[in-house]
Amino acid sequence: MSFKFQALFIAACLLSSSASGLKIGETCSKDGECDAGLRCDSCAANGNTRGRCTRIQPLDPTSKVKGLPFNQYSWLTTHNSFALSGEKSATGSFIISPTNQEDSVATQLTNGVRGLMLDLYDFENDIWLCHSTGGKCYNFTAFQPAINVLKEIRTFLEANPSEIVTIFIEDYVTSPQGLTKVFNASGLNTYWFPLSRMPKNGGDWPTVDDMVQKNQRLVVFTSKSSKEASEGIAYEWNYVVENQYGDGGMKAGSCPNRAESSPMNTKTKSLVLQNYFRNSPNATASCADNSAPLSSMLTTCYEAAGKRWANFVAVDFYQRSDGGGAPEAVDIANGHLTCGCDNIAYCKANATFGTCDAPKISPPPPAAASTSPSQVPTSIASLDRRPVYLQWFCWTMLVTSLLFWL
Ligand SMILES: *[C@@H]1O[C@H](CO)[C@@H](O)[C@H](O)[C@H]1NC(C)=O
Ligand SMILES: *[C@@H]1O[C@H](CO)[C@@H](O)[C@H](O)[C@H]1NC(C)=O
Ligand SMILES: *[C@@H]1O[C@H](CO)[C@@H](O)[C@H](O)[C@H]1NC(C)=O
Ligand SMILES: *[C@@H]1O[C@H](CO)[C@@H](O)[C@H](O)[C@H]1NC(C)=O
Repeated sequence: MSFKFQALFIAACLLSSSASGLKIGETCSKDGECDAGLRCDSCAANGNTRGRCTRIQPLDPTSKVKGLPFNQYSWLTTHNSFALSGEKSATGSFIISPTNQEDSVATQLTNGVRGLMLDLYDFENDIWLCHSTGGKCYNFTAFQPAINVLKEIRTFLEANPSEIVTIFIEDYVTSPQGLTKVFNASGLNTYWFPLSRMPKNGGDWPTVDDMVQKNQRLVVFTSKSSKEASEGIAYEWNYVVENQYGDGGMKAGSCPNRAESSPMNTKTKSLVLQNYFRNSPNATASCADNSAPLSSMLTTCYEAAGKRWANFVAVDFYQRSDGGGAPEAVDIANGHLTCGCDNIAYCKANATFGTCDAPKISPPPPAAASTSPSQVPTSIASLDRRPVYLQWFCWTMLVTSLLFWL
């Protein structure tokens, strides 16, 4: 065999490798096989035990229609963003608190998470991320000093000069100027969006372009009303309505406000936050929760909020889904908010509001596991594996031809 042929084979092999990314919904056996932004996951809670490529990233909310007010976009939000499965306390103790997420805040931001829910406590003469009861943190409920995670956020904002991040603080800090000190120390105060620019009577927020241009790209809310006067940190429920969190927010067809929030349809609060997670986080169940029931609740809360789509969609285990998941829910909200389409994927660039592309062909139906391997039809099995076989064939041919040549 001539050298030309081998060069051809190498090219073909490289091409087949790079083209091997599986699309959403296709069966897979490991993450690397799926296209970027997808991971290989199953959802036993829905009876889907075969791995399929599932989404872990929403589309960029501002990718189709740019320059709208901040409150006309929807942002993927993680509940207890810091409470990571498998973590030890930075005190060295084991942790007895439940956990809600599986990857670091830095990775969450890379995947397109733009809302973070952080529980902050006074602890060890510092401010810590903690998940406790009675407002008091213990070694076995403490995750780590808040400054570590705040610095991850600063690093992200530095590296991504057109991104905006929102922090919702569940605030147990009583030390004087405690929050201000830790935000100052983290360097995040550079990006602070000032209280004075937040609309108080249901008006539009500044545009995202304006926030980016002024470098006011960090929006912070606290759950303590007194901090607005004492530290200039926005009291969340002056600006945001929120539905009930936990099990009470997961009853199909109803979207009541949480106790601290005004009723959902209070239009003097310009932002709408939708919680959708259980009282007791359940990683196994979350793939099912984050899929069809979440999207359905999105519509329920839209109606409850006086026909306003959620600006923040907050979930546990945001990467887990049975297909599109929380990223899909955020894409749906952004479709409606930014271009008047059922999903941001259908927005047409520079088109008038409500002019949409035809929906793409939906992913193949869920791949249920067969009870015995022999029941898997070989035609489907080989179809699923096609790119892998192609590569295998390619490299085998190449090695064989090399052997002949030598
Ligand atoms: C809690 O952790 C700190 C280290 O951060 C340690 O000094 C202290 O002894 C621990 N307290 C208990 C009760 O284990
Ligand atoms: C935080 O930083 C600002 C601006 O640099 C400064 O004016 C303020 O005194 C600092 N506050 C505290 C409590 O460190
Ligand atoms: C978590 O969810 C799974 C799947 O729905 C269920 O089988 C399991 O009992 C749940 N675990 C707890 C502790 O509720
Ligand atoms: C949309 O409009 C912007 C600004 O007018 C322009 O830069 C961009 O090229 C347009 N995009 C398309 C796809 O027409």
